[in-house]
Amino acid sequence: MKIRASITGVHGYVPDFVLSNKVLETMVDTNSEWIETRTGIKERRILKGKGLGTSDMAVEAIKGLLKKKNISAEEIDMIIVGTVTPDHIFPSTSNIICHKLGAKNAWGYDISAACSGFLFSLITGSQFIESGRYKKVIVVGADKMSAIVDYTDRSTCVIFGDGAGAVLLEPDTTGYGITDSILRTDGTGKKYLFQQGGGSVQPPTMRSVANQEHFIYQEGQAVFKFAVKGMADVSAEIMERNNLKGEDVAWLVPHQANKRIIDATANRMGVSSDKVMLNIQRYGNTTSGTIPLCLWDYEKQMKKGDNIILAAFGGGFTWGSIYVKWAYDSK
Ligand code: UT7
Repeated sequence: MKIRASITGVHGYVPDFVLSNKVLETMVDTNSEWIETRTGIKERRILKGKGLGTSDMAVEAIKGLLKKKNISAEEIDMIIVGTVTPDHIFPSTSNIICHKLGAKNAWGYDISAACSGFLFSLITGSQFIESGRYKKVIVVGADKMSAIVDYTDRSTCVIFGDGAGAVLLEPDTTGYGITDSILRTDGTGKKYLFQQGGGSVQPPTMRSVANQEHFIYQEGQAVFKFAVKGMADVSAEIMERNNLKGEDVAWLVPHQANKRIIDATANRMGVSSDKVMLNIQRYGNTTSGTIPLCLWDYEKQMKKGDNIILAAFGGGFTWGSIYVKWAYDSK
């Protein structure tokens, strides 16, 4: 039987510091009710501490995963990191994580696909397992969004938070694991959601800093419209081509950007709300972190053989959905 990449473990990490809607009311002209009704978010976590970055959250998530699976860092073959907030432009965050963990036999790299970062990384990681070349690949979605959020801009600062989630991929020849995927990009969406400064087109200058070009820029309404359609389209398509009806899906694991986008996707798929993983109220939008953090939160409720649909939409634009046949019962 063909080798599939199956998720055999998951773990997450969120920083201790809680930034509530109430506290945001004291920082910008907003109110808790607006944030909660328009997005579903009640609070988010922020990584505090000098010198701490995305790699530190990813390392905590991976350490928890290794402990749970009772495997050593030396056994890891690869670490692939979905992130738009790497510790540095280079070296890659994967490089830094491998070093911090003592994963001496691993190699890896970062994948930049905004809120679809975990999905793009998962499919990339799965190829290395399916080829038969590697046996233990870790895929981590991690973002310290607070590093690029303008805390004077009420339209973005209420949405984002920091966090990391990691999964272990191992080979499976019994029919479980990553079964199908649809991944998409559309560069015409760049203008609606991006970070203008810091790259080769607009390197950091005194002017770019003064012009706030190193923060997230988002035209929320435009992104919202594309997100509702994009996420629902690919989720419906993947169900159709795998002959899945709403009742066949055990869990929808959506990117946590806005509860209204999640509801629209679930509706289109015919999946009832009790089968939709949701933690946006506690963590907000952690970009690449949302989907593995959901899997971590709901791990005990998933059962071997469950049909699970992962779905995301993000800056770029990037979007996609992945069909996973869940491989284990959690103890
Ligand atoms: O994760 C990757 C992709 N990103 C997304 O999927 C995000 C998609 N977009 C969204 O989730 C929503 O567009 C937002 C949550 C960003 C904004 O919600 P919205 O319902 O689209 O609000 P809006 O931008 O249409 O603004 C409606 C009103 C405006 O006031 P006026 O002009 O009607 O008086 C805004 O100024 O709400 C105002 N507003 C706020 N009010 C209180 C915007 N932000 C806030 C705020 N608090 N934080």
